[in-house]
Amino acid sequence: MFQRFRRNRLNPHLRALVRETHVSVNDFIYPLFVRGGEGIKTEVSSMPGVYQMSLDEILKECEVLKNLGIYSIILFGIPDVKDSIGSDALHNHGIIATAIREVKKAHPEMFVVSDLCFCEYTDHGHCGIIDHTHETVDNDATLDISAKQALIHAKAGVDMIAPSGMMDGIIETLRSALDEEGYENLPIMAYSTKFASGYYGPFRDVAESVPSFGDRSSYQMDPANRREAIAESVEDEIQGADILMVKPALAYLDIVRDIRENTSLPLAVYNVSGEYAMLKNAASAGLIDYDRVLMETMVGFKRAGADIIISYHTKEVAKLLSTL
Ligand code: PBG
Ligand code: ZN
Repeated sequence: MFQRFRRNRLNPHLRALVRETHVSVNDFIYPLFVRGGEGIKTEVSSMPGVYQMSLDEILKECEVLKNLGIYSIILFGIPDVKDSIGSDALHNHGIIATAIREVKKAHPEMFVVSDLCFCEYTDHGHCGIIDHTHETVDNDATLDISAKQALIHAKAGVDMIAPSGMMDGIIETLRSALDEEGYENLPIMAYSTKFASGYYGPFRDVAESVPSFGDRSSYQMDPANRREAIAESVEDEIQGADILMVKPALAYLDIVRDIRENTSLPLAVYNVSGEYAMLKNAASAGLIDYDRVLMETMVGFKRAGADIIISYHTKEVAKLLSTL
């Protein structure tokens, strides 16, 4: 008599037929951290399973990824030398340009995204050039060098750029710089709604990008602001972004839904380092059924409205999906 919902749950095939949300390996972008040297593969203590790798190791890793059906990666560079303006990111033989070029040469079928920011390249760890009077990042001066960095990535053969510094006007600036140089087909995935978050802690260990003074609250968003979160992403769409993003993911699924309802662009979530570390630690403490919680989390991102998931869990997800 009260069988309204349960009838459709009794048979596994029927459950599959009525399933509303699906996770596929095609939804994922896997982050890789590249540094100088050779034969280097150093695990990050706060992120088990995540490594800083020299380029030769990155090239081997791409082979592993392809065998798992993973073709999309996002590259982060860790330079040998950092300075006040992040010069390593601004020349053709810096770590990120070299990595893009070599990955595309060895694995042309990989889809290579580059994170475009300065915090990994500056000695002060902020995401751009410092305005000393105001003790924050100088927005417009950073736009100029970001355009230069975008052209360096484009020339190196990148497939998509992903500016993550949260400078105002960044999308418009990069779009016109790329168009002027003939890169009108290069897409931009905007870190359009990025919160000033404690969940980035472990990433800053891997990327060696902890700010030496202050924090990023003058350019990243206040976690309490919903209207502003929508406006930030809508603004990036107006400026010409091809894909929008919400970052972090877990504590912001309401924002993912809000943005989904305010744009028709594809939407990514960045399942960040602190979220990864929490699951890993809960698993190693024996507190959760890791595989199950992992897939539940991923389907949650998709259900909230994400099309794309940037995640350190990508390889694990690919393995789980292939055994289903
Ligand atoms: C650089 C950048 C950060 C992340 C991606 N790009 C760190 C930050 O803004 O401090 C965070 C990723 C993560 O925590 O996994 N701007
Ligand atoms: Zn940054």
